[in-house]
Amino acid sequence: MNIASYAILLFLALSRYKAEITTATSNCMESGCSDDQQCRDANNEDCKDETSLDCQCKSNYTHGLIVTCYDAYSDKTKHVYSVPIAQNGTPIPDPIWSHRFPTSVLTLRVDVDNIQKKAYIYHSNKHSIYKNPNYNYGNSTENLWTVLSKGISSGLVSLAVDWVSHNIYWTDPTFKWIVVQSLSSSDTSMFRVLIQENLYRPEALALDPTDALLFWSDIGKFTTIVVSSLSGRNRKTIVLSNLLRTISLAADHQGHRLYFVDTERDTVETVTYDGTDRKILLTKSYSSLIDVAVYQDTLYVADIRALYVINKTNGNEFSMTIGEDVYGYAGLAVFHEEVQPVTDHCQDCGCEQICLTELGGATCICKDGYHLNEDNKTCSLIGTYFHRALVFSNASNICILDITVLADFVFDPVCVLQTTGTKYMVFDTDQRNIFIANDTAIYWTNVDNPKLQLLTEISGSISGMSWDGYDRNVYWTEADTGKIWRTSIESKAQVFLEGLAKPHDVLILPHHRLVYWISERNGSTIESSNIDCSHQHIVLQKNDSLKWISLSYNPYENRLGYTMVTSYEDEVTTIWFHSLDDIDYMTEGECTGAGPISVIKVFDENNRQNETGPCFILNGECEQICIPNRMSRMCTCAFGFMLAEDGKTCMSDPVMDEFMFVGDITHTSMYQIRLNDTNVQGIKAKGIKPRYDPIHERVIWLTLYGTKVYSMYLNGTGQTDVQIDRKAYLFDVDVSTGNVYFVSEKRYTREFCIGVISPDGTYLGLREGLLYVYGIVVSPSDGYMFYIHNNTIVRDTMDGTHPETLLEGVRASGGFTVDFKTGYLYWIERSSDPEGFLIVYCEADGSNRTTLYTFETSSLNKYKPNNLAIHGDDLFITLRKQSTLMKLKLSNPSDITEFTVPGSLGKIGFVSIYSSSAQPKNAFCSDHNGNCSTICLPTPGGGVCACEDGIQFKEGSTSVCSNSKQPCLFNIIV
Ligand SMILES: *[C@@H]1O[C@H](CO)[C@@H](O)[C@H](O)[C@H]1NC(C)=O
Ligand SMILES: *[C@@H]1O[C@H](CO)[C@@H](O)[C@H](O)[C@H]1NC(C)=O
Ligand SMILES: *[C@@H]1O[C@H](CO)[C@@H](O)[C@H](O)[C@H]1NC(C)=O
Repeated sequence: MNIASYAILLFLALSRYKAEITTATSNCMESGCSDDQQCRDANNEDCKDETSLDCQCKSNYTHGLIVTCYDAYSDKTKHVYSVPIAQNGTPIPDPIWSHRFPTSVLTLRVDVDNIQKKAYIYHSNKHSIYKNPNYNYGNSTENLWTVLSKGISSGLVSLAVDWVSHNIYWTDPTFKWIVVQSLSSSDTSMFRVLIQENLYRPEALALDPTDALLFWSDIGKFTTIVVSSLSGRNRKTIVLSNLLRTISLAADHQGHRLYFVDTERDTVETVTYDGTDRKILLTKSYSSLIDVAVYQDTLYVADIRALYVINKTNGNEFSMTIGEDVYGYAGLAVFHEEVQPVTDHCQDCGCEQICLTELGGATCICKDGYHLNEDNKTCSLIGTYFHRALVFSNASNICILDITVLADFVFDPVCVLQTTGTKYMVFDTDQRNIFIANDTAIYWTNVDNPKLQLLTEISGSISGMSWDGYDRNVYWTEADTGKIWRTSIESKAQVFLEGLAKPHDVLILPHHRLVYWISERNGSTIESSNIDCSHQHIVLQKNDSLKWISLSYNPYENRLGYTMVTSYEDEVTTIWFHSLDDIDYMTEGECTGAGPISVIKVFDENNRQNETGPCFILNGECEQICIPNRMSRMCTCAFGFMLAEDGKTCMSDPVMDEFMFVGDITHTSMYQIRLNDTNVQGIKAKGIKPRYDPIHERVIWLTLYGTKVYSMYLNGTGQTDVQIDRKAYLFDVDVSTGNVYFVSEKRYTREFCIGVISPDGTYLGLREGLLYVYGIVVSPSDGYMFYIHNNTIVRDTMDGTHPETLLEGVRASGGFTVDFKTGYLYWIERSSDPEGFLIVYCEADGSNRTTLYTFETSSLNKYKPNNLAIHGDDLFITLRKQSTLMKLKLSNPSDITEFTVPGSLGKIGFVSIYSSSAQPKNAFCSDHNGNCSTICLPTPGGGVCACEDGIQFKEGSTSVCSNSKQPCLFNIIV
């Protein structure tokens, strides 16, 4: 991907940020210390030495943290704190100094070069990286931060400093590249986009200069952690499953381990440098983890409201806050005075521009716009200027803006050519040429040597233009003559296609060798042909009054995009940068004196063959995860799946009996866990509440707040769904028929209903007008269903005709199951302590209500139970926001163990268990569906046939329904 997607013309009210400068006060001066004996706050315990206000205290701390904060609402917040760390690794919560940037700040990332004592901060609102040339942590001197690099996007940029060879690397998630800049040069243009192929959204970044390794996370459909050399070579994906948004990485060069936080999984995790031995160190519910740093035995993790100090070996943690007026922590880095003996191979590498550390050596690279000469040391200029730029036309000129302007509010374009009436513009980025069309002719010019040259005259009325970088042709459409033409600098214009109906907006997909255009015949159409004119056909047709007005191509999805927006602001003088990935805008600026802009395009010289990246088109034909590997790719599978022999599809090895289903709400994924050996198999569907229909060997599931009941075979085939007119949220499966008993909530009325759906999709309402229902279980062998309704436990026949209250005063809170061996019912109840929870059971007739287990109120943040399932003597309990289950012995409730699902699952929100030996079937219904033509409902001592809502039995029959009202949806012949 490239920046071509990001520039969009739009007017938007300027929302400039309040700029205010506040001055950090020095507590040391108040405490009587002289200015050059900077000390921490005089109120701090460590400073309150009986004999004197000890102003040397800072010198006793050999290391500390630089912590950054953002200030969404307050303009009093300081943005950068220096926090000393005591010998045992814990920070002292009183900062030594703090700094406020003169503007509001949303994202700040920080890293330090401990050898040169320089700190670097990414400032999102300024789209810039700042440097502090002497961050001496005892020194509160203001205004040491100066701009190092401008024009970075506003996403979650991460920084990493190579403190051996003195380079800084950063990710740009919006421009989708990784940049390196030399810190040895004072020339701020000494940077290069180092990695941009096959990146979806690089966010986290870390490096290890001693092993010369660079690590980053790529946030995509499947988030990955990737390693390469510091020069971007030898890329390898090291973590590829069960990551969501890995937003910070830290490399521990002593332990050769990587530490990372995943802010959607709410985890702090670690793997070795080669991706093995992954461990979750900490799961932090209700958190917004942001950044992680490692030093010696300790991890420092920034959450939005707290800093966690974690033992990097066992995950033990405590949390703390620092500073006053802190709105939210944004980033952190450790500074220290340790200087390791590391050889800097760059010291005498002889590179003219940028030198990067490699293992056992160094490599020279050139800054953007230069290429490396054959001596592998010196660099030569490629083009004069503009490597990534916006090119636009106004009434009289073609003007260029470097992409880095987005750091400013006022854009100062360079107008390179005078020309009027520009209607279309395309680029040949290989040769750095611009093609410009007005009403009568097409011209071209080189970017570096601007001189308008006639390419061809146009006889018709031009209505679109495109560039084919393979055959190096310009294509254009003429609406009035019905023709598409093509030409090149070397050849004469020729008609490519004719006889078209008002063609416009021609689009070439060079790598597919396809031509698309919009046409008007019986309404608006999108048409296509091969580049050799063959296979001309209509792709899409619209018969109403809406019209397609432009086409674009999205290589990620291999999809053609089209827009139907018709308004075009012809007084555009503001250029607005907008990231397609983020809702938030990046920046906007006024083009001084440019006047109304007619056409704007992005010129990106590195944008040549990007869309051929092996994973870009249709995910490289991989069913699940596509890993780019130089020019080829490798398919791989998510946790719980194996790669099939075709090397593309993924499969699981379904378990048919004695298994547990869990729903992972973090990843919206479902897994089967074999009960005898906890082997895990994935389910190929997004969902969170799976149960099993053993009759048809299908998994039935619900999504959160969905209005559909889904079903498919365990191997992922044959997926169907039944739409119901309301939100289904609880269900159970009758193992004798595969009927699904579900509880749903009618929209707006808060009226709850119980209904049944048979495997062929037939729907029958059983109970209406209920108040809140907390749980439902069916016991088909004796023909009863049980549900918790309005603080009572109700036993009803499975045809819904004989509800009777078994128990009253049940403060249920979800979680309801039956032990088929004893017939006992188990549920979760709120205790009289409003915060507390109990697990309670009673016998099948409601007698002998007993509390099985009481959750300690003090541990509730960790242990809020929400779901139950029984297997033999084991009761499994899901705990809110936990990735492990609690396992309790029914015969000995004090025997509690933690049940950990292997693999790195997220929070488990649902559990169900299938065991054929435990769940007896209904004799009547399991015998050929009770000979019922439609639905068989178990009842005590037998069963009855039923028809779907609104359908009667055939005259004289009690088993055969008159014609079905709706077609089968599950498509299963019962
Ligand atoms: C604090 O920083 C300023 C500016 O770099 C420097 O002049 C001064 O000597 C420093 N003070 C101490 C105590 O390091
Ligand atoms: C700092 O270290 C010195 C020497 O080790 C010691 O005498 C002094 O008490 C320490 N100060 C504090 C505040 O711990
Ligand atoms: C961290 O945990 C490890 C392993 O349990 C232990 O050996 C070490 O002493 C702990 N470190 C600290 C500072 O508590």
